[in-house]
Amino acid sequence: MRFETKVVRAGYQVDPVTGAIVPPVHQVATFAQEEPGVHKGYPYGRTANPTRSLLEKAIAELEGGQYGLAFASGLAAEDAILHLLQPGDHVLCCDDVYGGTYRLFEQVRRRYGLGFSYFDTTTTKIELQSNTKLIWLESPTNPLLKIADIEAIARQKGDALLVVDNTFATPYLQRPLELGADIIVHSSTKYLSGHGDVIGGLVVTSNAAVYEKLKFFQNAIGAVPGPMDCWLVLRGLKTLALRMRTHSENAQAIAEFLSTHPKVARVYYPGLPSHPGHALAKKQMNGLYGGMLSFELNGDVKRFARATKLFTLAENLGTVDSLTTHPATMTHAAIPPEERARRGIQDNLVRLSVGIEHAQDLIEDLRQALEYA
Ligand SMILES: Cc1ncc(COP(=O)(O)O)c(C=O)c1O
Repeated sequence: MRFETKVVRAGYQVDPVTGAIVPPVHQVATFAQEEPGVHKGYPYGRTANPTRSLLEKAIAELEGGQYGLAFASGLAAEDAILHLLQPGDHVLCCDDVYGGTYRLFEQVRRRYGLGFSYFDTTTTKIELQSNTKLIWLESPTNPLLKIADIEAIARQKGDALLVVDNTFATPYLQRPLELGADIIVHSSTKYLSGHGDVIGGLVVTSNAAVYEKLKFFQNAIGAVPGPMDCWLVLRGLKTLALRMRTHSENAQAIAEFLSTHPKVARVYYPGLPSHPGHALAKKQMNGLYGGMLSFELNGDVKRFARATKLFTLAENLGTVDSLTTHPATMTHAAIPPEERARRGIQDNLVRLSVGIEHAQDLIEDLRQALEYA
């Protein structure tokens, strides 16, 4: 079955009892037990919830994995994965990741004895330490849209687990398990829910031992999403393919427009043939390159952000409406300035989350804002 068909019904068929074509929201904290310890798989709402189970099944189906797990946010999902490690273990991470991921690594988990080092995202050759237990990739990356060669990195992972943050691509554009990854993590706050009305995180794996441990941490730590939030992600998923296609087509048109604009010094979008990762993205993704792009502005970032009318200045991405962000002071402010500069995140970098509005309206909005900047 093709993705566009699968995504409409992922995780759920018509309810055999009521005939409901949409799943109910099981807004409930606990479940009756017939005898102590005898229940229908739902002992308590933190441990499991039927609406959450549907979402977990849906994301596993869409990523081509065996098991899915839902969390209260993308960062809660990431933190659960880090709990697989012991003090003294090392994580090898690509050098362009969401600022909150960097903050979790450097300001939280380092204090508990984990080591982190970073490698050039675009390299095809990595060097593991003897204690490297996780390799962490984003592709395309936030905010510089670098493309990592997931298959090449997977071939060198040895006994380490390869984690891919698939938030920017979604399973419609890229399926990292098929490329050799062990664990996929998502901020479902973004494209998967798609409407900017929920915070959530998801994990997918086909490794039963990893799943059992993560399921234990999900319950033992308790950073779980509420049933209504799970339902909102399930509803959003139905239109994922449609939305991703329009996000990508609009972003491509905008990237091409920005590439020729005198106020724009450089555009980062993997759909542009001039992007250094274009050929790899073409091979690794499904022929679409997503709705995210960044550019360096020859002008005043604050004036630009004030002038846009269709791009709202906000810290989020992947929603139907267009957003703009200034990574240096917003999404990536947790990275110290010298480290940001080393990674190539300049103060004049602007990130766009291109929505599903008409491309021409978005281009006209950017044109007038660039003039004002
Ligand atoms: C690529 C990526 N991963 C993870 C996260 C964290 O997700 P959340 O905000 O849902 O905790 C974000 C948030 O912006 C992100 O952009």
